[in-house]
Amino acid sequence: MKLNMKKMLAMGLLCMVGCGFAVVGNAGSFKLSEDVKAPTVALKQAAQVGLLTHETAALQNLENKDAILVMSFGTTVKETREKNINATVNAIKALYPDTKVVLAFTSHIIIDRVKANEGLVIPTPEEALAQLKAEGYTRVAMTSLDIIPGIEYDYKKAVFNLHKNDFKKVTFGTPLMYWQGQEDKDDDVAESMQALATQFPQGGKKDAILVMAHGTPHPANAYYAVMQDKLNALGHNNAFVFTVEGWPSFENALEELKERKIKNVTLMPLMMVAGDHALNDMAGDEEDSFKSILKKEGYNVDVYLHGLGENIAVQNLFVKKASQAWEALQGAKE
Ligand code: CO
Repeated sequence: MKLNMKKMLAMGLLCMVGCGFAVVGNAGSFKLSEDVKAPTVALKQAAQVGLLTHETAALQNLENKDAILVMSFGTTVKETREKNINATVNAIKALYPDTKVVLAFTSHIIIDRVKANEGLVIPTPEEALAQLKAEGYTRVAMTSLDIIPGIEYDYKKAVFNLHKNDFKKVTFGTPLMYWQGQEDKDDDVAESMQALATQFPQGGKKDAILVMAHGTPHPANAYYAVMQDKLNALGHNNAFVFTVEGWPSFENALEELKERKIKNVTLMPLMMVAGDHALNDMAGDEEDSFKSILKKEGYNVDVYLHGLGENIAVQNLFVKKASQAWEALQGAKE
């Protein structure tokens, strides 16, 4: 029985990754116990876990006019933006060809630089929602290209809460990794690690993969430990997650390499784009880049300079997240 379930899960995942279909899994929303008769606003806000749905009672007589808002941190590096962010947005557009799909960036610094460098105007999520409302859209499915539910995701959640009453209905999906296989929930982290591993090189006992994530002061930094655990469970014992700005650090990863007497290292970003962190902190020629430090320590180093959006298996997971927000907007039962 247990084996059958596992088999079915594996087949579902294979189909999703292999066939390019977006499968709506258990998107999951958390619901307060029905015994709580009159939850306060604060309790309701604290209970906002998982996929969020809001309907504004006063606007229910409006006609449905639906849009999808895709939100990303953004990047100033044009080539990687096109290969990762735009490619993922295009995959979402391909699934909903008759629906308006808008892209917004949350980094105001990047928005300003892209405008100055390329003359390209990309809205903030707040501006994008105001524009959609001005154009008569009444229902919006919001989805994020965030990797973990950290500060960036909290920003988007705040936008959802501040603007939800402007629309008849708004939904907000979860980032790439949210559920960790709790109770009946999906295991986003395991699925994401399996998708990530499709880009791992083959290696022997002397080879390791250092997976560079961003890191955050937000408690969601703990996801990196879950990722490592799931990688190990999937048999990728030669892959180590480290972060640029959090824990585990690059020094922690170096200790692992020494302990296991590794000779050859592949560096790769666990980030949506191969932007500034990947090009400079990871693979730059300056002596303080991770590549340079590893070489100085005597390792043979390969760099994999591609964002997660270029990984079709990961891209499919982002499309799945968008489709969960869309299905919830359409009122589909979970
Ligand atoms: Co950064």
